[in-house]
Amino acid sequence: MDTTATLRASPDAAVPTLRQIQRIVRGRPTSDGAGVKLTRVIGQPDLDMIDPFLMLDEFRSDSAGDYIAGFPEHPHRGFETVTYMLAGRMRHGDNQGNSGLLTPGSVQWMTAGRGILHSEMPEQENGLMWGFQLWVNLPAKDKMTAPRYQDIAPEAIPETSPVAGATVRVIAGSLNGVAGPVSGIATEPVYFDVRLQAGAAVELPLPATHNGFAYVYQGQARIGEGASEQLVRGDLGVLGKGDGLKITTGDAPARLIVVAGKPLNEPVAKYGPFVMNTPQQIVQAVEDFRAGRF
Ligand code: CO
Repeated sequence: MDTTATLRASPDAAVPTLRQIQRIVRGRPTSDGAGVKLTRVIGQPDLDMIDPFLMLDEFRSDSAGDYIAGFPEHPHRGFETVTYMLAGRMRHGDNQGNSGLLTPGSVQWMTAGRGILHSEMPEQENGLMWGFQLWVNLPAKDKMTAPRYQDIAPEAIPETSPVAGATVRVIAGSLNGVAGPVSGIATEPVYFDVRLQAGAAVELPLPATHNGFAYVYQGQARIGEGASEQLVRGDLGVLGKGDGLKITTGDAPARLIVVAGKPLNEPVAKYGPFVMNTPQQIVQAVEDFRAGRF
């Protein structure tokens, strides 16, 4: 008899059900904005979305020509954009007069709601620019909410070390009694930036209600119990069901983001920077944008 399986199957057991990798997806090189080179991992033919996550881009280049054109003024409606900087500086500004500088280690969680017009431009002419932009869907009832920004400085993101050899920056959600600074988001997201030394193993709680993924951006790691598949830099693992995530490293260290959110299970109508529930709402968004109503 497999005792482990029995324990895991029991609803009373405190032992978490470890999530396994459902499949591994690699991003596709593309460009966006005024010609910024990036890798699209979610929101491309191999992985349309992981409800509520609509898009994940990684931008990483130390060649200014790949990023200097930036993202001049453009609109968003109906969802949230989350920018996490690893290296480099990006200036953010919008048509409401809001402005801010994203520095290494900082996060901007922008709820576009009914609409904003903004620009995201590099504030450097050389050196490494590295980070992620994630698009998080909003439920139908919040799609036309007032825009909101959570600009979070690097020092406002707490770090915790659940076990030796593992350090986690808690951007959203909580771990070890440490809560991330992002608050009041409909999909109750978890966003961890995980750093593992070689030969480390850590188990992270992830709400069973949530869909999630892990994206390795440095080194390599294994996910799940006895997982035979190794995720290497640039691999996104779509997570199966469960309420815990076990990550282990072998000879090499690893850095990865682990992100999860409550699925909306609502119809998605997408057109560029507008994400609504119906085609009619998309037509309305385009009309509102053209008429200068953002
Ligand atoms: Co934008």
